Amino acid sequence: MKAPIKGFSKLSREAKIEWMVNEIFDGDKNVVGLLDSYLHSDEKVQKLHNEFIENTISNYFLPLGVAPNFLINEKLYTLPMAIEESSVVAAAAKAAQFWLKRGGFKATVIGTEKIGHVHFMYHGDSLKLHEFFNDNKDHLLASTNDITANMQARGGGITGIYLVDKTEELDQYFQLDVRFQTCDSMGANFINSCLERLAESLTSLIQSDNRFSEDEKKVQIVMRILSNYTPNCLVRAEVSCPISELAEEEGVSPQEFAEKFYRAVRIAEIEPYRATTHNKGIFNGIDAVVIATGNDFRAVEAAGHRHASIDGQYRSLTHCSIDNGIFKFWIEIPLSVGVVGGLTALHPMVKFAHKLLGNPNASELMGIIAASGLAQNFAALRALVTSGIQKGHMKMHLLNILNQLEATEEEKAYFVNYFKDKVVSHSAVVRHFCELRGIPYESMVKPK
Ligand code: MEV
Repeated sequence: MKAPIKGFSKLSREAKIEWMVNEIFDGDKNVVGLLDSYLHSDEKVQKLHNEFIENTISNYFLPLGVAPNFLINEKLYTLPMAIEESSVVAAAAKAAQFWLKRGGFKATVIGTEKIGHVHFMYHGDSLKLHEFFNDNKDHLLASTNDITANMQARGGGITGIYLVDKTEELDQYFQLDVRFQTCDSMGANFINSCLERLAESLTSLIQSDNRFSEDEKKVQIVMRILSNYTPNCLVRAEVSCPISELAEEEGVSPQEFAEKFYRAVRIAEIEPYRATTHNKGIFNGIDAVVIATGNDFRAVEAAGHRHASIDGQYRSLTHCSIDNGIFKFWIEIPLSVGVVGGLTALHPMVKFAHKLLGNPNASELMGIIAASGLAQNFAALRALVTSGIQKGHMKMHLLNILNQLEATEEEKAYFVNYFKDKVVSHSAVVRHFCELRGIPYESMVKPK
């Protein structure tokens, strides 16, 4: 890139692309063809996508897979999963099938409370501020009535407001800590609007209150924003069965399987290196459903990782017990998701995903997503403590390698069969591909 550009956002899509072609791609017009080829054929649908974000130049596809046979609280679901990584959907479907025969998943929503804060600086007597807050709490809440009316009619709204003194950690720092119920929406816009109003009201109420000196009246509002950490918007999903009902896995007896599985979870509970990978696998299942249902996977991840490190050490989000011959495996995770608002009424594939799930409410969706994370973790640990992860993973990866090699459909079918009883590795596939096509292996592995 030669120089920064001014007014980029004001350019048309075509002009934006032209600028990139000239400045970044050395005039390569193929870039235009590529970007155009990913546009939706229906102009209306494309317009929707253009308007989801800013500076849209094309679309970015992720595959949408489905994992059937998820029995959650006695109800059967087919899960929509948007993810780029091979093996994840297959693993979810396999774990769902396994637990289908053993009573399925039990999901329990422990709470649905959301949180937001007005972060502000007050230089004065803390007791005076507390007195003021107690006298004015109702006024503060009443000032949000026009924003909260609809949510209240649906059974939600602001459920609590507290003044928190944080001056021991940061000089002059106080918070309004506000609690919300946002019904079937994730509620970010609702919460932030309420917080902005509360901050305005706080400032004007303090300024017109004679108990404060002129200096104390100079309250500085620093931020008004929801917290993505929602410890009380929590769900638990669980599977269990007698150890004797666990299948024999790759020559490992049910008892040995249960013990190794239990130890694998214990390792992730005490060892942060392993916990990070362990939880990453859980988020393979969680994010895929969160994305497919149009929810905010960054928010869900941030809350999940905070929960995983609640006592100061990063730990596993899942847990396992073996008591009196019963194997139990569960996850407890904060999940702030919605089924109304945001993309849910706009994105055609998101609407499809909700329909596929039978249009669940937000609490039901929390249970479904938690079950997906638990299933994914079960599948990963099941492979890790028996045959290892690469066997299944590389089989799925085989197709990706063959696609990279631009193999024909006949060649793909041949390779899937050829590697049925062999270890798949990138080099083994490329080597055999070269042998079959009669091309030198070196020509494929040399850097371009
Ligand atoms: C790969 O995406 C996820 C795993 O590494 C998770 C795990 O190790 O538990 C298989």
